[in-house]
Amino acid sequence: VSEQMWTTERTTTTRYWVGAGALEELRAWLEPLPHRVPIVADAEVWALYGEELRSALHPCRPLVFLVEDENDKELGTVERLVSELVANRVHRREKLVCFGSGVCCDVGGMLALVYMRGMAYGIVATSLMAQVDAAIGGKVGCNFGTRKNLLGGFHQPDVVLCDPDFLETVPERPYRAALAEALKLGVILPDLGIPSLLDELGDRDPEVLTQIVERCVRGKIRLLDPDPYEHDLDRLLNLGHTVAHALEKVEDCGLLHGEAVAIGLAAKARYAEREGLCTPEHANRIVSQLERLELPTSFAADPSELEARLSEIPDHRGGQARLVVPVDDAGARVIEGGDLDLLAECISLAAVQG
Ligand SMILES: NC(=O)c1ccc[n+]([C@@H]2O[C@H](COP(=O)([O-])OP(=O)(O)OC[C@H]3O[C@@H](n4cnc5c(N)ncnc54)[C@H](O)[C@@H]3O)[C@@H](O)[C@H]2O)c1
Ligand SMILES: [Zn+2]
Repeated sequence: VSEQMWTTERTTTTRYWVGAGALEELRAWLEPLPHRVPIVADAEVWALYGEELRSALHPCRPLVFLVEDENDKELGTVERLVSELVANRVHRREKLVCFGSGVCCDVGGMLALVYMRGMAYGIVATSLMAQVDAAIGGKVGCNFGTRKNLLGGFHQPDVVLCDPDFLETVPERPYRAALAEALKLGVILPDLGIPSLLDELGDRDPEVLTQIVERCVRGKIRLLDPDPYEHDLDRLLNLGHTVAHALEKVEDCGLLHGEAVAIGLAAKARYAEREGLCTPEHANRIVSQLERLELPTSFAADPSELEARLSEIPDHRGGQARLVVPVDDAGARVIEGGDLDLLAECISLAAVQG
């Protein structure tokens, strides 16, 4: 018998940067400035900011490939982008840029992961969802048929640049949906002070937005840091997501992901209150903050239909649901033996109260 062991280590350093002037930072990252740079960009973002980016990088020429929306988050798009890179003889030593939304980060990051077994990439995150969540942590991927995020991997970008100036033009609905992810982090990590910033936000106050994004970046990294490759599935970051994924499986649910997370947060607050894990005051604080942010806090559906969807969610161990719930002061924790009937009730319950 011959036995051998080989240990390999992945170490990466990503620079997260929040502030005005992302395009100058992008240029600095590209130095020494190449003659061209491949860019995966959101079609909408490119229409609005393409010229600005072009002149910020001049004389480096952008080689632009556009993606549209969630429907483009699929392998076919990755293949199309690969063909484009091949046709343009892009080498893995070149750097790739993702310029846009959550979809753009996920697909562009996936392209950077697989193209020639991996190329360096940087992200200019232009939507609030990208800045507070999607661009942080190096999780990349795409959907497969109806299965969201079934394919993917981890590929850490060199830089993630979050400029609040871009946020002014993000459409209202996705902007609000992203606030739910920010509040989720705020509930998990009370010391970040996110809820009070959300109350000061007004009409997208850029100073406050900068602080919110900065704290979300810091908070998400802090939560990911002990386990960047997600070996442990009990992640506090999943607060509200069991419910969100269940709702997203209800046909024509009509919810954006962040809206589903908002309902999940509200339901978990009610659930924790019912189970005596948090005070009614704490639960009400969470629900009423979601209401002030004009986010949904309930979903009108038959509880048995919801319960069926919830039990399809694969976070069961030995037949028991493990749920992340908010707890007073301590943020959130994972409980075992979660009661899915009660959770389903809490999803529609809020409707009655709200
Ligand atoms: N990898 C991760 O960790 C992670 C985390 C959260 C979400 N996601 C993914 O992100 C995706 C959700 O993001 P999304 O792209 O649908 O929503 P989004 O909120 O990022 O963008 C919404 C839309 O806004 C537009 N937009 C973006 N920036 C703009 C700007 N500055 N001005 C005007 N319009 C702008 C884009 O056209 C986009 O279609 C989902 O696929 C989700 O799975 C990934
Ligand atoms: Zn989410």
